[in-house]
Amino acid sequence: MDLILASNNKDKLKEVKRILSPYGFNVKSQSEAGIHLEAEETGTTFAENSAIKAKALYDIIHKPVIADDSGLEVDALGKEPGVYSARYGGEGVDDIGRCYLVLNKLEGVPDSKRTARFVCVITYIDENGEMTQFDGKIEGRIGYERIGDNGFGYDPIFVVGDRTLAQYSEDEKNAVSHRGEALRKLEEYLKTKIR
Ligand code: IMP
Repeated sequence: MDLILASNNKDKLKEVKRILSPYGFNVKSQSEAGIHLEAEETGTTFAENSAIKAKALYDIIHKPVIADDSGLEVDALGKEPGVYSARYGGEGVDDIGRCYLVLNKLEGVPDSKRTARFVCVITYIDENGEMTQFDGKIEGRIGYERIGDNGFGYDPIFVVGDRTLAQYSEDEKNAVSHRGEALRKLEEYLKTKIR
């Protein structure tokens, strides 16, 4: 089954493809499908923004689509950066800068208060326009420096067990991640629907 991902984020696309392809899904990005779209994320929750992105693409293509809205919630920062994870710190700040922003804000915060989680909401819209959502999360804590070269975004400062997610291999991360959990729920759902 073909699924088109409503995202321009190459790292997300890579993970989504790797998680879903063993189940027989052929995931294409919207640009691979010839569509150039940047839906404005005006929602205040991951679920709202995920739905906005999926709908915007479905309204153009009228084929099965998925969208991923995800982010980091840091408890000591009142769950920031949350839905603003991709835009934290404003224009001109990159993934590395955003990691340092979080690290700097947590200066002096002890280990026990550095709890955080990644959250993901996957929206699926079928060929008839029916929408279903699936969520996933992974609990961890914010480290004290950037460590590791794998993954993307906040992975180098997000510690699970004794390593950052950027020290996990792709498959190790996908087996425990927020995105992996949500996409496996989608797969379970689609199994009952289409096979
Ligand atoms: P979105 O495109 O609005 O969903 O932005 C998600 C943002 O959250 C990304 O740009 C990253 O900064 C962060 N994020 C989401 N998932 C992950 C992950 O698996 N690892 C690291 N950062 C992530």
